[in-house]
Amino acid sequence: MKAWQIEAFGALSPVQVERPAPVVGPGQALVRVRAVALNYRDLRVLEGSYDPRLALPFVPCSDLAGEVLETGPGVRRVKAGDRVLSSFAQAWVAGRPTQARLRSTLGSPLPGVLATHVVLDAEGLVHAPAYLPDEAACTLPCAALTAWHALVDHGALQPGQTVLVQGTGGVSLFAAQIARLLGATVIGTSAKPAGRATLHALGASTVIDRVLDPAWGKTVRAATSGLGVDHVVEVGGAQTLAQSLRAVSPGGIVHVIGVLSGARESFDVLPVLMNEVRMQGIMVGPRDSLEAMIRAFCAHRLMPIVDRTFSFDEVPAAFAHLRSGTHVGKVCVALP
Ligand SMILES: NC(=O)c1ccc[n+]([C@@H]2O[C@H](COP(=O)([O-])OP(=O)(O)OC[C@H]3O[C@@H](n4cnc5c(N)ncnc54)[C@H](OP(=O)(O)O)[C@@H]3O)[C@@H](O)[C@H]2O)c1
Repeated sequence: MKAWQIEAFGALSPVQVERPAPVVGPGQALVRVRAVALNYRDLRVLEGSYDPRLALPFVPCSDLAGEVLETGPGVRRVKAGDRVLSSFAQAWVAGRPTQARLRSTLGSPLPGVLATHVVLDAEGLVHAPAYLPDEAACTLPCAALTAWHALVDHGALQPGQTVLVQGTGGVSLFAAQIARLLGATVIGTSAKPAGRATLHALGASTVIDRVLDPAWGKTVRAATSGLGVDHVVEVGGAQTLAQSLRAVSPGGIVHVIGVLSGARESFDVLPVLMNEVRMQGIMVGPRDSLEAMIRAFCAHRLMPIVDRTFSFDEVPAAFAHLRSGTHVGKVCVALP
């Protein structure tokens, strides 16, 4: 089998290697990988900033769509021939996160899926939605579930509420699509014309150029007649949190998801308590939420927005494209 592995942090690209084929054990499934979605997190794993103590060589990435080739003793959840997706946190099936569940994530600390074949616990797999090709289905385990877990599980998003999404990366566009699906109004920001066009196409009522309008929190409030938004899908981190707190309504939720502009910034806690703002940390989500989301996506045939799909031999170019920030939606790798 072939795999891409990180041999040195900071090299900005993994190295393609031949490895012995993995062997299934009890409770496990051998999966032939058909497509892998890249996430911003994978860039940080490559750099060594996500977990500098990760033992190298290491196969990165968490999100696969594939086909079960063989199952080990005791497996009932999947069978040979099934189309499957990986569950991001392998041991988080349902319920609250625990330290062990949060440490069971693919692509760090557990070995990742950027390989032609992987062996995973059958409990860490879900059935892929039949209506989606592999290159689109592989985007669901991390980016889509993060948006769903925030807005639906924690946020109990209601029709008629307003959701603010930042930028046009994977998480934000899924958040916009899920919000529209559930009858909410979407306000979006983007630094690029293609991103703003996509937000308009998805039905956003207000779209802001976040570069021309760095005080966009005020613009968002104005767009909601001064009320503020019910949900902020906060992916920017250090540079966006202050604006998010300006944009959110009293009693609203800031879903703390990403750190695209850094993780450390001092901010005024007073508006948080004075306005009863909820700040909700999100760490992707459990398997039962992934399955609930897939049922909803199947019912509405929601189409993930894939910016570009690269071949397995083009993995370095795929990471370079993700790093460039020019993408709108997901960047994927398709295997033969
Ligand atoms: N906590 C979790 O469970 C979880 C799960 C998934 C992702 N994340 C995190 O969420 C963030 C987004 O992940 P992703 O995979 O969706 O990333 P991505 O697909 O790489 O999205 C990047 C896009 O975000 C926008 N952006 C970049 N810097 C920004 C800034 N300072 N302010 C606002 N927007 C900015 C840009 O869009 P425009 O050019 O259109 O503005 C950029 O193209 C990352 O920090 C990631 O680690 C967290």
